[in-house]
Amino acid sequence: MFVRNSWYIAAWGDELGQAPLARRILGEPVVLFRDKSGKAAAIADRCCHRGTPLSLGEVVESGLQCGYHGMVFDGAGRCVQIPGQDKIPASAFVPAYPVIERDHFIWIWMGEAAKADPARIIDASYHDDAGHWAERHDRLHIAGSYLLMIDNLMDLTHLGYVHRRTIGGNPSQHVNAKMETARTQTGVRFTRWMLNSPPPPTYVKAYGFKGRIDRWQEFEWVAPSNVLQWTGAKDAGTGAYEGNRAGGFQFKVFHGLTPETETSCHYYFATANGWAPENDAASDLFFRESRETFREDKNVVEQQQARLDEFGEDWLVNIVSDGTRVQMRRVLDGMLADERRTMAAE
Ligand code: FES
Ligand SMILES: [Fe+2]
Repeated sequence: MFVRNSWYIAAWGDELGQAPLARRILGEPVVLFRDKSGKAAAIADRCCHRGTPLSLGEVVESGLQCGYHGMVFDGAGRCVQIPGQDKIPASAFVPAYPVIERDHFIWIWMGEAAKADPARIIDASYHDDAGHWAERHDRLHIAGSYLLMIDNLMDLTHLGYVHRRTIGGNPSQHVNAKMETARTQTGVRFTRWMLNSPPPPTYVKAYGFKGRIDRWQEFEWVAPSNVLQWTGAKDAGTGAYEGNRAGGFQFKVFHGLTPETETSCHYYFATANGWAPENDAASDLFFRESRETFREDKNVVEQQQARLDEFGEDWLVNIVSDGTRVQMRRVLDGMLADERRTMAAE
């Protein structure tokens, strides 16, 4: 069950070149392509002639040409050409999805097209702010539900265990971090402080911390499937906690978790170096370390999903550190119920 009336990330803009791109989103096979003017479009990846995936075809002057018998579809899903016949039947079309390319992402709306308001797309403009934030990005396929990945981001006590070789740090420092959680208009946000804590390996490598640090993490889940992270650290006792974060080590991370199926997702992530944006080597190093970190999450979540597939979820127990995660799930359940009610009423 997915929230349908929402913008999801369908691809990074630079993943979509001349060739069509097949991607399953919210359980549906979608094909993305750029028309001859470069504008991105998304239509169902199944030709209305004989059901062949349109992603096997190619982009031609007037749209996407099916690779089987050559019918051509435009970005709105309308058949605009049938080889050897002039008349195009009214039923010759495939579903199309609203698409907007912004901040390096191709956003897609899988719900009712009339409700696709571009103003609801998350502001991720720092991707284009190279003077202040040097951005790198990639994508991972996760054989686990997007919910498990968001759970992971909403409970950072896992850092001390899963990520001890990268961004981890001392497990008890994580468990005892000062934590504040709040509802926002679009989701849930939490802030954590780990004061006077030992710097984790990635922080030492990237910034060269010599002693203990005051470390902060702000995570905002924007329903249903994206998490904006702003994290940093300064030498312990130099005023970060009191509000002076300038001059320290800081970075942003965008986590976009688009459901592929109920038990798999696409993980679009970007890191942005905000401590030394002009230093390409530092941005590259930090990005590589982050990608390694996310692979550690992928490994855990995929194996967790396998157990949940086998045993269900009824026997699971919540502990104190689940607080934010549980709040997130509650908000999401509310959204799903609202959407179901609205659909039933329409
Ligand atoms: S299956 Fe696409 S044109 Fe025949
Ligand atoms: Fe993690």
